[in-house]
Amino acid sequence: MERTAIRLGGVELSSSVMNAAGPHSAERGELYELGARHQGALVFKSCNSAGLETPENLKNRGVQHFAAIARALAPRDKVIIASVVGNTEDEIVQVAGILDRAGVKIVELNLADDYVMNSVAPFASYQRLKVLVGRVRGEIGAVLAIKLPPKPGTIEAQALAELLKEMGVGVVVCANDLPKDLEIDPATGRIKGGARPLSQAHAFWRLGGGVYDVVAVGGINSGRDAYVAHLTAAKAVAVGSALIKEGAGALGRIDRELDGMLAENGKRSVNEIIGQARFES
Ligand SMILES: Cc1cc2nc3c(=O)[nH]c(=O)nc-3n(C[C@H](O)[C@H](O)[C@H](O)COP(=O)(O)O)c2cc1C
Repeated sequence: MERTAIRLGGVELSSSVMNAAGPHSAERGELYELGARHQGALVFKSCNSAGLETPENLKNRGVQHFAAIARALAPRDKVIIASVVGNTEDEIVQVAGILDRAGVKIVELNLADDYVMNSVAPFASYQRLKVLVGRVRGEIGAVLAIKLPPKPGTIEAQALAELLKEMGVGVVVCANDLPKDLEIDPATGRIKGGARPLSQAHAFWRLGGGVYDVVAVGGINSGRDAYVAHLTAAKAVAVGSALIKEGAGALGRIDRELDGMLAENGKRSVNEIIGQARFES
């Protein structure tokens, strides 16, 4: 077994490193290249029903484009994570259903983007979020993932985590917004200072109590970044900007660097370090 292999939301992945939705993941050629060059999950750019020209960051060819790619790649044992946006609840439910039936293993609702926040406003109330998540849960057989915005709104974090657990969300995609001056010794996982939430990923991992898995996204550019994100609770890490800068090879590089650090520290599996960071006091 590969040292970086994990189970994410119950789905076996041969690497804990994956691409973040968006960069290098909109066009067929980009997705085939990522799929061929990296053994882990393949994450699709967020899509809606008919496609979008604006906003620029959500430009996409529509769900049927992605469903066709999923139908081609899923039978070849490629684990696909598809990402959904929409400007109505009905659209989100419909797009999630189409991707599910195309064979994706994990359906991620991108509730982090302003496009969704300003239309569906999923975090406007506990009840609104519960209805949306419940409708999608009822529509799909795949594992359900939710990408959280940096500031989810008025729902208190503990209540939000309870809702995610209760509604059977298997994966929560969170910001890897660790403090820039975090002092951590990767070899021991020791962190300077007292116990505190270190990032959105760390906070939601603590609140989740192991019921869902956490994917950390943001600032993962090296194996060390991935190692620290794992220590601070991420089951998997998603790579965005490094893919834009470096191309598809970034995923393999980060996986190899992570694997090297695990070996150096005497770890046989990345699972041995997930959430193992310890505070000094
Ligand atoms: C050009 C671009 C397009 C993006 N498109 C999406 C998207 O379609 N869906 C999504 O959930 N996030 C999208 N993101 C956000 C990324 O998934 C990720 O959260 C962000 O880039 C932070 O990670 P990084 O620091 O590794 O870049 C996009 C980011 C960029 C730079």
